[in-house]
Amino acid sequence: MTIRILGIETSCDETAISVVEDGVHILSNVIASQFEIHAQYGGIYPEMASRAHIKAIVPVAKQALCQAHLGWQDLTAIAVTYGPGLPGSLLTGLNFAKGAALSCDLPLIPVNHLEGHLYAHWLQTGVAGAADGRLEFPLLALIVSGGHTELILMREHGNYEYLGGTLDDAAGEAFDKVARMLELGYPGGPAIEESAQQGNPRAFNLPRAWLPGTYDFSFSGLKTAVLRTLKRQLGPRSPRQTADMAASFQASVVEVLAEKTIQAAQEYETSAILLSGGVSANMALRRAARARTSVPVYALPPVLCTDNGAMIAAAGTWRYQAGVRADWELDIEPGLSWA
Ligand code: KG4
Ligand code: ZN
Repeated sequence: MTIRILGIETSCDETAISVVEDGVHILSNVIASQFEIHAQYGGIYPEMASRAHIKAIVPVAKQALCQAHLGWQDLTAIAVTYGPGLPGSLLTGLNFAKGAALSCDLPLIPVNHLEGHLYAHWLQTGVAGAADGRLEFPLLALIVSGGHTELILMREHGNYEYLGGTLDDAAGEAFDKVARMLELGYPGGPAIEESAQQGNPRAFNLPRAWLPGTYDFSFSGLKTAVLRTLKRQLGPRSPRQTADMAASFQASVVEVLAEKTIQAAQEYETSAILLSGGVSANMALRRAARARTSVPVYALPPVLCTDNGAMIAAAGTWRYQAGVRADWELDIEPGLSWA
């Protein structure tokens, strides 16, 4: 029997709803971004985010069903992110999901947002360098986004081991903060990557926090080093200096992420490496990882790197098949981690 799951994602600043068939075929993938709201503040403003979700969620759900040429009665279940994330944002998605599931008499499947980022790799994209579901366990995943930097060993469906993560800033947060220092705009990742293309990655000697013997990361020292270097520069910064700093910063982040990911993949003898999350859209990161190993390094099209409903529907499909169902008392878990 065909399984059609509606995936609802509102953990941060995207109202995203998608319909996925059998965990692999994307029938629709609608994303209402709050980019313009948060760009004014240079970061995410939680109350604004919840309010924007409330306004967007019904139209986004209708559009997701319309694009899939389906009605509520054609769905098998509803999957929803219940954590981790911003409390007000998560509540909007979960309440909507409960209402829809109750009124349409559909099962409700709870999904961990981070698990969603992994299951994006089971979606069939047909894009070069994507896994398209051709995956064998064990797998090593690097999740790098605005809120997370984690290395996860995936032994089976639903079987995860947290190997390490950031002790301070997430990688994407560091990109966003340094972009602000360089006045490159928000979100910082794509702006830094673009500027870095014109710069010399060896122009500034920035630190790399290796934290030997662990799979942990730290980016706050790097951020402070960038700030100190910029303060020492006299006079207005030239476009060349901005590009050199963007390139040097990006090289420092990418080198540590790629090196530690490859080390973990070797130690645990994984069959492939999965790059997930907004920062995995960075081409320098993909190149650095692929240059260091013969193990396949899979990455996703940009729309599946950042937050989306399809990844929640994909993770929800596996959970549905495993018999997982939420009860009506399901609450949000803003600090949810790996089970
Ligand atoms: O996964 P995501 O949409 O949201 C979270 O769950 O946090 O990731 C957003 C983050 C932002 O910090 C953004 O600057 C970063 O991903 N990002 C990038 C690139 N594209 C997005 N960082 C580096 N290079 C990129 N090309
Ligand atoms: Zn995310």
